[in-house]
Amino acid sequence: MAAKIDVELRNIKKVFQNNVVVQNFNLQVEQGEFISFLGPSGCGKTTTLNMIAGFLEPDEGDLFIKGQRMNGVPPHKRELGMVFQTYSLFPHMTVAENVAYGLKLRKVSKTEMQERSKRVLELVKLPHVADRYPKQLSGGQRQRIAIARALVIEPSLLLLDEPLSNLDAKLREELRDELKRLHQEIGVTTIFVTHDQEEALSLSDRIVVLNHGHVEQIGTPADIYHRPASEFVHTFIGKTNKLEGRVVARQDRLLTVETQSGLRLKAVHPERAVAEGDAVTVFIRPEKIRLTAADAPADANRAKGKVELTSFLGAFTECDVRIGTEVLSVKVQMLDPGLSLSIGSDICCQWSPEDVLIMPGERG
Ligand SMILES: Nc1ncnc2c1ncn2[C@@H]1O[C@H](COP(=O)(O)OP(=O)(O)OP(=O)(O)O)[C@@H](O)[C@H]1O
Ligand SMILES: [Mg+2]
Repeated sequence: MAAKIDVELRNIKKVFQNNVVVQNFNLQVEQGEFISFLGPSGCGKTTTLNMIAGFLEPDEGDLFIKGQRMNGVPPHKRELGMVFQTYSLFPHMTVAENVAYGLKLRKVSKTEMQERSKRVLELVKLPHVADRYPKQLSGGQRQRIAIARALVIEPSLLLLDEPLSNLDAKLREELRDELKRLHQEIGVTTIFVTHDQEEALSLSDRIVVLNHGHVEQIGTPADIYHRPASEFVHTFIGKTNKLEGRVVARQDRLLTVETQSGLRLKAVHPERAVAEGDAVTVFIRPEKIRLTAADAPADANRAKGKVELTSFLGAFTECDVRIGTEVLSVKVQMLDPGLSLSIGSDICCQWSPEDVLIMPGERG
C-alpha cells in the first residue's frame, strides 16, 4: 500500500511586492515523516512554513493537508502545532498556562487539560517548571516549553521554524537529540526549518534544499550528501574543494581530468553525460583526502604538495596543502606515523576516483 500523504504542496508561489520569494514548490510529505527545509537566510523557508500553517496565502498553487485543500482555511482550523523562529511564549502566563492555552481554546475539560499538559511537560523533561514564568527559564527550556505547547493539542502536523537557532552549540546538540527521540516516540509528521546542514542531516528522513525561493533538491540525507543535484547543494551541505578542469580521456567508467593548474586526476564516470574535451568542475570533500608520505607508492589519485596552513579543531585538524597553483583543504583525523603537518612540510594527498564529484562546467 502506498504511504499516506499528510501534506502536499503543488506549484506553490509567493510574491512580496513584486519579489518572487517562493516558486514552483512541489512536495509530498508522508505520514510520520520528518522533513527539513534547508537553505540560506532569505531563501523562503519561513514564508513556505507560514503558508502551510495558514498565516500566509500562496499567490499560486494548491496546498493540501490530509487530502483536504487548505487554501483560504485559517490557521486554527488546520490542527497543527507550530514553534516560531523567535520565542513565542506568552510572558504574562505561567508555563502551565502557556502549555494549556491551545487546549483552552479548544474547550477541553479542566481535568483533561491538566493531564495532557502534565504529560507533554514530562515528554520534554520539564515537569518541575510548570509554575514558573517564561522569564524564569533558560533559552533552551523556553524552546522546550514552546515545543510542549505545540505538541499538547496532538497536532496532525508539527511545524518547527529554527527552534534551536538561538541556543549555544552544546544545548543545540542536546535538544536536537531530544527532538529526534520525541519524533521516534510520537511519530508526528514534522516539518523543520533550519539553515544548519548538520541539523538537517542528523534529524531528517528527507531534506528539501532551497535556494532563492526554489527547490534545488529533495532527497534523503545520503542523497543530498553523496548525490547532490547541483553545485549549490554540494557546497551548501559542507566544505569542499573545487577545481576547474577538462576531460582529457575516458576509459570505461573512469574519466581523466586535467585541472587548469595541470593536475591530472581520475574520477568515476558521472551519470551526467560528459565527453572528452568537455570543461568540468571537480569537487573533492576534505575528509576524503588522505595524507601520506611524499614518496609513498602511487595509489588512485595522488598529488605532491607542501603544508601551507593548519587549524587544530579538536576532533580533527584542517590542513591546507599547496599543489602548484591549487590549494587542497584536507580534514585530518589520524596522521600516519612519521608525517608532519608543520608548515612547509612535503606531503602527498591521495584520494579515490569514487570520491571525486564531477559536474559539467561551462561549454567551450
Ligand atoms: N512580509 C514580507 N514582506 C516583504 N518581503 C518579505 C516578507 N516576509 C519575507 N520577505 C522576504 O522574503 C524572502 C524570504 O523570507 P523568509 O523569511 O521566508 O526567509 P528564510 O528562509 O526564513 O530566512 P531566515 O533563515 O533568515 O529566517 C526574504 O527575501 C524576505 O526579505
Ligand atoms: Mg526564517
